Amino acid sequence: MPRYTDDSKERARDAVDMVALVSARTELRRAGANRFTGLCPFHEERTPSFGIDPVKKVYHCFGCGASGDVFSFVMETEGADFTGALELVADRAGVTLEPVVDDPQAEARRRTRDRLMELLDRAAGFYERFFWESPEAAAARDYLAGRGLSEEVLRQFRVGYAPSAWDKLFTRSRSAGFSDEELHGAGLAQRSRQRDAIYDRFRARIMFPLADRRGRVVGFGARALRDNQPPKYLNSPDGPVYHKGRQLFGLHLARAAAAKEGAAIVVEGYTDVLALHQAGLPNTVGLMGTALTEDQISELSQLAPRIELALDADAAGEEAMVRAAALARGRRLELRVVPLEPGADPADIVARDGTDEIARRVRESVPFARFRVTRILELAQLDSGDGRDRALAGVRSALAAQPEGVEREELVRQVASRLGLSEKLMASLVLDVPGAGRGVGSGGARRTPAGPAPGGSEPRLALDSHERTERTFLALCIALPEAARDALRKLSLDEHFTNATARRAAAHLGKHLTAPLEGLPPDDDELAKLMAELTVRAGREPADPATLEVQLQQLELNRLDRRVAAARAAGSADVDEHATARSTVKDRFNDAMDRAMDVVPTPPQE
Ligand code: UTP
Ligand code: MN
Repeated sequence: MPRYTDDSKERARDAVDMVALVSARTELRRAGANRFTGLCPFHEERTPSFGIDPVKKVYHCFGCGASGDVFSFVMETEGADFTGALELVADRAGVTLEPVVDDPQAEARRRTRDRLMELLDRAAGFYERFFWESPEAAAARDYLAGRGLSEEVLRQFRVGYAPSAWDKLFTRSRSAGFSDEELHGAGLAQRSRQRDAIYDRFRARIMFPLADRRGRVVGFGARALRDNQPPKYLNSPDGPVYHKGRQLFGLHLARAAAAKEGAAIVVEGYTDVLALHQAGLPNTVGLMGTALTEDQISELSQLAPRIELALDADAAGEEAMVRAAALARGRRLELRVVPLEPGADPADIVARDGTDEIARRVRESVPFARFRVTRILELAQLDSGDGRDRALAGVRSALAAQPEGVEREELVRQVASRLGLSEKLMASLVLDVPGAGRGVGSGGARRTPAGPAPGGSEPRLALDSHERTERTFLALCIALPEAARDALRKLSLDEHFTNATARRAAAHLGKHLTAPLEGLPPDDDELAKLMAELTVRAGREPADPATLEVQLQQLELNRLDRRVAAARAAGSADVDEHATARSTVKDRFNDAMDRAMDVVPTPPQE
């Protein structure tokens, strides 16, 4: 993958017209010298809460919390990765990007990988042609057609067929100049142990190419055509480019659709992915087996804020769902379950009942907690004390994944009545579970992380009042760089900021007050997002030095409140001392409030 110099990235940023770029997605209206607003392209809304600063080239939505710069805007709306977005922006702005020249070792590794990917791409092409053209593959073509898969979708996914001969692929690859080493590294050939011979790994199988996010082939999943040909699916071995458990099947074809839809559908198998794409659900990706990994969850959380799990209702499928819920906890991911009857996978449903039926089931998906609670209650043996305890434990952990709200209240009621507990007791049991109510994002509040928290980012809703003050204060600093210089000097990063990202933002502003979006560390995504949010906010909120002073005193009050609380918890005698300091600050705060009120223009009297 090419990397480009920071300089070319900045030239692309400078050159692109952000208003034009964003206008292609949503209608913008000018709302101030450096501000345009419109309906947010990232969530459904009727009144505009989305704003951009066309000069600094950042956006922020006060509704869903989406924020970022031109590049993240293109990543989100086009489903591109960073390099892809940079290339698109540069292209649009007519800027030529310059690739970075790296250290020789990294360069060599990249060359090796590029070679292997070229080999894999050629192999995919070979299998593909063999599938469509050879008489030997007729059975495979008939089989897939018999399962209702169209030529269009088979071509879109580059489905192929590996001949049964043991040397077709490697002889071709050799004559194209690839070494045995490379064939081995790409997972396409195996060495026989007895004789010193090499032979094709995939033979007499339907080939599903596995691609990375950008659509480059990194391996294969190969399905046996006959029953007496185990394993049913043979996958690429781990190597320099393929790592089991990192990929999601169909990701490159699902990205843009998932971004647009705000949801990704997750199924188990290759054929399920193809069938759903064909059925008009192009936001579908496959797990390739049932063991959902942390890498896959993290990839999914970048794909869309909502995940619809359409996994087999068998034990393995359910285990995958529970695992998904555990991994999703603490991320801003809403998990829903598409109900399927045992033994029926999505491809079967499409083949049997048609495309409308599968789309209907996806529409009627239920929150993970509801699905799980219903299952547990169905299976529970409530006539034994032991059975009830087990059911209660399962239900509590399932409910912990559900954010507070009507849905959870209803579930609590349902569970309480089945288990014969009072609703009050049940509700308190649920609240006791660590992480209760904050695991899954809810409503429109999923995109902006509140900063690193143990186990991942918290949903935006979880921003407490101290963190909110910190953000407001920082936004005012950007709006009032002159007054802010003084204010920032009076603060201690460690003591006045509770949120780690806000603390980094304050440190950054200390050095870059007049150009807050410059000099951001390239690897701190959270900080970049927060700076974008603050910049857009700074252009929106009425700002004067008196308001800044109010927020400054509020930060100091918050700090003392935390001290008082800590002293109290530790049973320390310092409580009184802190409380006295607090009352002095409170007076200062009140004065600042009074002055701020004077500044605010009073509404005209009738
Ligand atoms: P399934 O056995 O449900 O296969 O395994 P499937 O996708 O329904 O296949 P069809 O529809 O009969 O063609 C689900 C997924 O588990 C992985 C594959 O990714 C498969 O799509 N798997 C299964 C393997 O990796 N190896 C196996 O031996 C079996
Ligand atoms: Mn199947």
